Amino acid sequence: MIWDRDRDLAESASQEILTSRQGREGDLRHSAVDVTDAEAVMSAFAMAVQDLGCIDIMVNNAGIAGPTMPSWEYPLDDWRAVIDVDLNGVYYCARAALPHMRERNYGRMVNMASIAGKEGNADACAYSAAKAGVIALTKSLAKETADKDIAVNCITPAAARTRILDQVSPSFIDSMFSKIPRGRFLSLPEAAGMVAWMVSEENSFTTGAVFDLSGGRATY
Ligand SMILES: NC(=O)c1ccc[n+]([C@@H]2O[C@H](COP(=O)([O-])OP(=O)(O)OC[C@H]3O[C@@H](n4cnc5c(N)ncnc54)[C@H](O)[C@@H]3O)[C@@H](O)[C@H]2O)c1
Repeated sequence: MIWDRDRDLAESASQEILTSRQGREGDLRHSAVDVTDAEAVMSAFAMAVQDLGCIDIMVNNAGIAGPTMPSWEYPLDDWRAVIDVDLNGVYYCARAALPHMRERNYGRMVNMASIAGKEGNADACAYSAAKAGVIALTKSLAKETADKDIAVNCITPAAARTRILDQVSPSFIDSMFSKIPRGRFLSLPEAAGMVAWMVSEENSFTTGAVFDLSGGRATY
C-alpha cells in the first residue's frame, strides 16, 4: 500500500513496482493520503487493515525540504509546513499503526530521518530540526514497544538524487555533496537494500537505532 499526497505519484510508483515484479505474485494498492492530516491518516490506516488484513511493515518516508536560507529569515509558514510533514506526519502514522502492531505482537517500522538531523545543516533549520525530532521520536517509540516483537528504527541518509533536491538551491546541493567522503550521491538501491533488512523478520533485536547511510560523513 503506497500513500502519497500526490495521487499520480502514488499511482506511477505502484505501476513501476508492478512492472519490475515480472509476474511475481502480490497485491499492491495505492491511495492519496496527506500525512499532515492526523484524522485522514487514522482512517486510511483503518482502511488499509480492512483491505490487506494486517500491516506488518510501515515505512514513514514522506518529506519536504523547505527553502534554503538562514534561520532568522526563514518564513514562519515554511517552518510550520516542514515540521508538519517531516515530524508530525511521522508521528501521526506511527500513532495509527502501533496499536495494531502491539495487538498482533509484530511490526517493523522505519522512519526516514536524515544526516541533517544528526548534524544540523546551515540554511536548513526546519528540516534539520524535524529530522532530529524523528531520531528522538524513533527512540521513544522503540522503548515503548520493546516488550513486543516490534522494531522501530530510523535511517539517516546523505544526499540522493531525487525530486526533493528540486526544492533546494544548486549551491546547497554542492555543499551537501562536498561533505560525502565517498565522493558520490547515495543510490536508491543502496537505500532500499538497507531498509529491506530493517523491515525484515530477521531484524528481531535491533530497535531504537539510527542506521547511518551517509557515505562516511557521520562516523558515529
Ligand atoms: N534525497 C535526499 O537527498 C534525502 C536525504 C536524506 C533524507 N531524505 C528523506 O527521504 C525521504 C524521501 O524523500 P525523497 O528524497 O525520495 O524525495 P521525494 O520528493 O522524491 O519524495 C518525497 C515524497 O513525499 C511526498 N509527500 C510530501 N508531503 C507529503 C504529505 N504531506 N503527505 C504525503 N506525502 C507527502 C511527496 O509527494 C513525494 O512523493 C524524505 O523524508 C526525505 O527527507 C532524502
